[in-house]
Amino acid sequence: MKTEIRTISEESLREAKKIISAGGVVAFHTETVYGLGANAFDDSAVESVFALKGRPADNPLIAHVHAGYDLSRLIDFDPPYAARLREAFLPGPLTMVYPSVGKVSRYVSCGLTTLAIRIPSSPAAQAFLRAVDLPIAAPSANVSKHVSPVTAEHVYDDFNGKIPLILDGGECAGGIESTVLDCTGEVPQILREGLVTRAMIAEVAGDCGVYRMKSGEKPKSPGMAYRHYSPRCGTAYCYTAEEARRVYLEEEARGGRPRILCDGACARELNGLNVLCLGETGEEMARRLYSLLRRGEKEATLLIGVIPRETEGVMAGVLNRMKRAFGVE
Ligand code: TXA
Ligand code: MG
Repeated sequence: MKTEIRTISEESLREAKKIISAGGVVAFHTETVYGLGANAFDDSAVESVFALKGRPADNPLIAHVHAGYDLSRLIDFDPPYAARLREAFLPGPLTMVYPSVGKVSRYVSCGLTTLAIRIPSSPAAQAFLRAVDLPIAAPSANVSKHVSPVTAEHVYDDFNGKIPLILDGGECAGGIESTVLDCTGEVPQILREGLVTRAMIAEVAGDCGVYRMKSGEKPKSPGMAYRHYSPRCGTAYCYTAEEARRVYLEEEARGGRPRILCDGACARELNGLNVLCLGETGEEMARRLYSLLRRGEKEATLLIGVIPRETEGVMAGVLNRMKRAFGVE
């Protein structure tokens, strides 16, 4: 199969609609990362998304809809705070989990009675979702466990020859996946941290919890149980610039090509070494993280991550992705 990368146009949207109606898969831009989408009502289309990614069968997918889609067709119960959150943050990088009416394919939620719904804000995503006018079940468009894609080329690297079409909307401005928020209880609870932070949600909803998986417990959001975002090269992690310098010099002495992935302050301390700098703010670090992980795996024999100390706001999401990329317990 030839994989085409096409920007949004009447013609490419017509093609995307044709592929989706026939039970096929289309990769598309969103403001967070690229998605790998199929008709959420179609069992075999949804199954093929799992097969393409090599995704574990117990890790549910998010249903993506356009801003005008009638959510009452999909959800059974809509707590009052959920309407306020939609008003404040959607379209945008917030996925909300609701009790499901059970209309979409049972493979989307992997047997759970809930459904995760996302209304992405990127114009490319909205154009695609409006054109198909269906809920589109879509995980991030990377092979399972690999680094999430933030450019059409990243998607191409993972799925060339396996999918017919990538709808190119440029580089994703957000850079890490949406915040996943459980809206089935009295108080909303964050299942995956992202660009919409706990403080932002609490301000609108009155309160907001953060789910922490206890060891031995079945996770509420199954995706959180897996190693993820892994670069395909040797990796090491540490907490200080000094430690990173030592590991770097050891790798160099062995004849390897080390690279260090760290924030701006740390990069300045490591002046002279080969550093991939994530930047200064949480937003900047989120935007660059996956591109630099993908660049690191191409250039380095050993990619050394310096794990930031900051845990608040958007950094909570960045930290979560970095820990999982580098296998930090
Ligand atoms: O930004 C994003 O959310 C991107 C773009 C493409 O929209 N999508 C994405 O999908 O990151 P994925 O499949 O890589 O991650 C979906 C996460 C997983 O952690 C999964 O376990 C959780 O959402 N999830 C999906 N449905 C759920 C449900 N019904 N209850 C709890 N967690 C759910
Ligand atoms: Mg993913």
